[in-house]
Amino acid sequence: MPRSSTPCGAIAARVAGVLLSIVAVTNTAGAQVPNPGRREPSSAELAQLGRLMFFDPSLSASGKLACGTCHDPRYAYGPPPGKGIARGGATMALSGTRAVPSLRYLHRFPQFKEQYRFVDGDVGPVGGLTWDGRVGSLHEQAEIPLLAANEMANAGSEEVAARLGKAAYAAQFRAAFGDDIFKDAQQAYAAGLRALEAFQQVPEEFFPYSSRYDAFLRGSLELTPQEERGVQLFKDPAKGNCASCHLGVSRAGAPPPFTDFDFVNVGVPRNPRLAANGDPGYYDLGLCGPLRQDFIGRREYCGFFRSPTMRNVATRTVYFHNGVFTSLRDVLHFYNERDLHPEKFYSRNTDGSVHKFDDLPPAYPDNVDHDPPLDRKPGDDPALSEEEIDDIIVFLKALTDGYAGP
Ligand code: HEC
Ligand code: HEC
Repeated sequence: MPRSSTPCGAIAARVAGVLLSIVAVTNTAGAQVPNPGRREPSSAELAQLGRLMFFDPSLSASGKLACGTCHDPRYAYGPPPGKGIARGGATMALSGTRAVPSLRYLHRFPQFKEQYRFVDGDVGPVGGLTWDGRVGSLHEQAEIPLLAANEMANAGSEEVAARLGKAAYAAQFRAAFGDDIFKDAQQAYAAGLRALEAFQQVPEEFFPYSSRYDAFLRGSLELTPQEERGVQLFKDPAKGNCASCHLGVSRAGAPPPFTDFDFVNVGVPRNPRLAANGDPGYYDLGLCGPLRQDFIGRREYCGFFRSPTMRNVATRTVYFHNGVFTSLRDVLHFYNERDLHPEKFYSRNTDGSVHKFDDLPPAYPDNVDHDPPLDRKPGDDPALSEEEIDDIIVFLKALTDGYAGP
């Protein structure tokens, strides 16, 4: 059974309370209520403050953890090698329960919706931030790591505001928001969240569209024959069929996001290296909890996670929500052989039989997706050959930003 009273659950409840006050603050600013002594910073000023905050470990209880420690710009704002499942907390001794995602290309995430009609006619949940879509905006999202006991571990908004007041850039905060910004902890806290949000919307940092594939789309380079084969296999419904979830076409003139932000249960194996999984009764079930709370008990959503973008995926060293795989090749083998050779991916029961879908409680295996290439029966041929897997990986590498070519 999912546990609904984990520390994280308690944090979510507390965060929800804090959120109300932020929305109120933002609305007040929006309505331009006379605000003597305060001023409204430009978005460039906000983003600059947000950048300083993002890389500032003094905003954490340990003094060692900044947003940028986990979301490292050298890895597309994802985790550096060896830090895919991060540690945090006041003494840096507490382990996270999920893989650190990249923060790139989130600018196009749709708001969470339970009944969304996808282009292929399917209806289901879509959007939202985090692996389970439980957050509606970047400023709300920032509250989770700032306050989570196993991340930056501030006791509350006042503690964050106090740290901001002592930060190296406190004077810049005053210059941007007015001299008395730190007199009201809630105002200072809300200002900090807005600054973090503004930084995460800087295009050159967070949606540069600077991969080889983007250069190809702009017509400034030809793909290699292998990249070309890879993209075809990625899209072909009879082969990888990857694009059916990791949407590979341009939309409304914008380059492809390589996700349609849908929720699927692909039957990811349990990660024995996650500290939380030391408790055999603990399951991270995504949409149906325990971190997300509004669908607890909705068994049809158990094990559903938001499909991530394929952009910069080759810079990652952990894959899937629980970080169970550590290479793209392992991920591809999983998609290709989950139902043909489950023994390669799943643990064993005590009687020696394979415990397929071992990260789901026994009641939920029928929630697992069977769209191609996850539609094979024992004895069938796999969807992809080893050479074709190589081709897809080469194509995925062409989605890494920072291509400095023509
Ligand atoms: C200890 C490591 C760690 C730190 C520090 C951290 N994060 Fe994260 N971040 C994560 C993890 C893990 C997730 C996935 C959470 C989930 O799915 O519940 C995440 C998710 C996110 C997301 C949602 C991404 C998506 O794909 O929807 C955003 C945005 C984000 N973090 C921003 C920040 C900001 C801003 C800070 C600093 C205030 C920060 N993070 C600090 C580990 C970290
Ligand atoms: C039916 C929808 C679907 C199909 C088809 C699909 N994926 Fe995924 N993919 C997902 C979802 C959902 C996740 C996240 C699952 C989780 O973490 O529990 C994911 C995760 C991934 C990840 C991990 C990324 C990260 O940041 O951790 C990679 C890599 C990936 N998919 C590649 C592919 C490739 C390559 C194909 C084609 C061979 C493919 N996917 C087909 C839905 C799909």
